[in-house]
Amino acid sequence: MQQVKAVVARAKGQPVELTTINVPDPGPGEALVQVQACGVCHTDLHYREGGINDDFPFLLGHEAAGVVEAVGPDVTGVAPGDFVILNWRAVCGECRACKRGDLQYCFNTHNATQKMTLEDGTELSPALGIGAFAEKTLVAAGQCTKVDPSARAAAVGLLGCGVMAGIGAAINTGAVTRGRSVAVIGCGGVGVAAIAGSALAGASPIIAVDIDAKKLEKAKAMGATHTVDSSSVDPVEEIKRICAETYDGADGADVVIEAVGRPETWKQAFYARDLAGTVVLVGVPTPDMKVPDLPLIDVFGRGGALKSSWYGDCLPTRDFPMLVDLYQQGRLDLDAFVTEEIGIGDIEAAFEKMHHGDVLRSVVIL
Ligand SMILES: NC(=O)c1ccc[n+]([C@@H]2O[C@H](COP(=O)([O-])OP(=O)(O)OC[C@H]3O[C@@H](n4cnc5c(N)ncnc54)[C@H](O)[C@@H]3O)[C@@H](O)[C@H]2O)c1
Ligand SMILES: [Zn+2]
Ligand SMILES: [Zn+2]
Repeated sequence: MQQVKAVVARAKGQPVELTTINVPDPGPGEALVQVQACGVCHTDLHYREGGINDDFPFLLGHEAAGVVEAVGPDVTGVAPGDFVILNWRAVCGECRACKRGDLQYCFNTHNATQKMTLEDGTELSPALGIGAFAEKTLVAAGQCTKVDPSARAAAVGLLGCGVMAGIGAAINTGAVTRGRSVAVIGCGGVGVAAIAGSALAGASPIIAVDIDAKKLEKAKAMGATHTVDSSSVDPVEEIKRICAETYDGADGADVVIEAVGRPETWKQAFYARDLAGTVVLVGVPTPDMKVPDLPLIDVFGRGGALKSSWYGDCLPTRDFPMLVDLYQQGRLDLDAFVTEEIGIGDIEAAFEKMHHGDVLRSVVIL
């Protein structure tokens, strides 16, 4: 067992706290990882606000890269010294999804069996089974995906959640490709990643929608061909207009990605897609949210697909090394997601900046 510094959310809505935690030595199937960098994702804030569940205290942080320090006795997939991105989809190989070959939908992803605890022995709930706002964290070995060790940890660690969720929402869930139009509602880290993924796939137009003009600037730099400030114009009408300019007869975008997680923006996505188009919900709603007044005939009448995207339907072993290669070749600008590097004591300030639209990602350097 080791004691390390870590950031914990003790109670609903309370500021997070830098404290000391106990991290067990890795047992069978587990790996101990020295965290080098971990991004601050909106989902961490959801946890702190009790929007995910009530299993406080949480050990926050889940977009991380680091180096494996030790592994349990039976672990063969990774070894001490490996540079890894942590993932929250360590496929089990045994559930129904895995058995039918849909590993990206694994219903039973692995996490560490042993619990990390507060000094008084209280068990911690690691965010998304990771908990990486910590000098070291204990995960299932399958949560460690080996990638090129020369890559910058602060940038590639973001593939561990938000950036992968966004890119995957476009290219995996939305099946975005060239010849398709895309609109992305909400241009934080996840939405901008969906824009970058759509650009990689060759889509056009790529329409960025946000209520914050600063976010729209970033979206443009990452590949958006058009921007819509939905604080002043109706995004549905504007998306339809832009798509009709490009494709004769288009009545919206082929794929609309909702990256906010709110009923009103999901409804905008629903009505902004073309007939037989696809809506991808990647934003995470809170349990109390409902979509009011949606005529069922509109669901039927518009055809197409209403999908949600967990983690961009990614398969870490397939997608992380591929995206790191594109980054290393200069074809995917992961550095652009890193607005600032911060210390482990600066996470509350980073949550605050998230509200003000100042950052795509603050990344804690450990
Ligand atoms: N599905 C997944 O696997 C997955 C993974 C990571 C994050 N997420 C979720 O994705 C969402 C976005 O995460 P993020 O880290 O990019 O958050 P963020 O706070 O950085 O970005 C949210 C963006 O939405 C914009 N926005 C807010 N209200 C809006 C509105 N009414 N219309 C248009 N834009 C609006 C904000 O200005 C901001 O740019 C969150 O709900 C997060 O929990 C999902
Ligand atoms: Zn499985
Ligand atoms: Zn996340």
